[in-house]
Amino acid sequence: MSIRLNNKYAGRFVGSDELCGIAPEAEKARRNLLSGNCPGSDFLGWIDLPVNYDREEFSRIKSAAGKIRKSCDVFVAIGIGGSYLGARAAIEFVKSPNYNKLKNDGPEVYFAGNGLNTEYLNEILRICEGRDVCVNVISKSGTTTEPAVAFRVFRELLEKKYGLEGARERIFVTTDKRKGKLKELSDRMGYETFVVPDDVGGRYSVLTAVGLLPIAVAGVDIDGLMEGAAEMRNELIDAPFENNSAMLYASYRNILYRQGKKTEILVSYDPALLMFNEWWKQLFGESEGKDGKGLYPASAIFSADLHSLGQYIQQGERNIFETVIDVQADPNPFVIPKDPENSDGLNFLAGKTLHEVNRNAFLATVIAHTDGGVPNFVLEVDSRDERSLGGLIWFFEFSCAVSGLILGINPFDQPGVESYKKNMFALLGKPGEENEKRRKELLDMIK
Ligand code: PA5
Repeated sequence: MSIRLNNKYAGRFVGSDELCGIAPEAEKARRNLLSGNCPGSDFLGWIDLPVNYDREEFSRIKSAAGKIRKSCDVFVAIGIGGSYLGARAAIEFVKSPNYNKLKNDGPEVYFAGNGLNTEYLNEILRICEGRDVCVNVISKSGTTTEPAVAFRVFRELLEKKYGLEGARERIFVTTDKRKGKLKELSDRMGYETFVVPDDVGGRYSVLTAVGLLPIAVAGVDIDGLMEGAAEMRNELIDAPFENNSAMLYASYRNILYRQGKKTEILVSYDPALLMFNEWWKQLFGESEGKDGKGLYPASAIFSADLHSLGQYIQQGERNIFETVIDVQADPNPFVIPKDPENSDGLNFLAGKTLHEVNRNAFLATVIAHTDGGVPNFVLEVDSRDERSLGGLIWFFEFSCAVSGLILGINPFDQPGVESYKKNMFALLGKPGEENEKRRKELLDMIK
């Protein structure tokens, strides 16, 4: 098993009666999920995705990635939310957060359209100056403001630089199979397009073209990623409750929530997981945060954040628990040198690897936090490779769906994200009676 749930530091916070009590609810959630008898049942495509994906498109993704890798210095992936986080998380997880600075045989990869900040966009444009550029715009709806604005800018840049024909060769579009403004534009302009399947929601879409094209451009092995996800699916989909790490994780979360925990912190001791944490936060936050319910998904990278959040976690309000992703491999060991003068008094560390020190920081912290009343679950992962990542992705998607159904919400919709958009469009003067009415109300509120 490539992911092991170690609950020895959380056991005393969860009674075996509580686990036995919730097991039938978890089983019912799984049954309903797998039979499609649950809210949001139109969005269950992610369940079988690792074993049942469009092979023809998958090989087109690999060819497009190969072409992009040969023909540009800078690759810009444009998207937001579920059309952004998975790809960036995967590249940083398997390669590095410093991917663009390390020696690579492919282009630098930047992400645009994931916000509306001027300088962020200006900087990417500056990075593109005098260099060959390819763009992948990713938007299921094809109408999301942030990526649509960024795509206007990069499309104009490519058309000016390469002409209409040349730009066509450098623009790749991932969107709905049939509908939407982006699909219409792509058909008109003749861009190569990839599909966001109808039955896969944004935050569950990393293993579709949404994530796979940018991931492959960065030189990550997408076959390995899919194989890892498939192995995890086969291992968990019908494994008995007591041996099923995803079912147990989903159950523990709900038990702790019922006990009054409000926040789950996803912790890692490797900064390469920072964006994976962000992906996880969207998955759980957008899936469970509704109907006035749900754990708040937070994240931390230790030991860095032990020097900022550590105090709160140790002694602040006791309504949190932690889930630690423990990546166990140390592929390039770094041995701490000896200082002949022992000027910092740390020669007792000389000869040990940094990984060994990091692991001891992890063990020390888990025990300290548990002693401080914070339950800790540990997810043991072999290494930061494609298979482990594919496994983790499917593990969390499955746990999230089961957990959300136990919670009694629809884990596949996100009605709440529309509220800010309606206000923003009204404030920006989008035509329409409703918008005008709302605009007046909003201006009254902010004057
Ligand atoms: O999970 C979701 O549905 C959202 O985060 C979307 O992915 C995000 O809003 C981007 O939407 P789209 O791909 O339609 O541009």
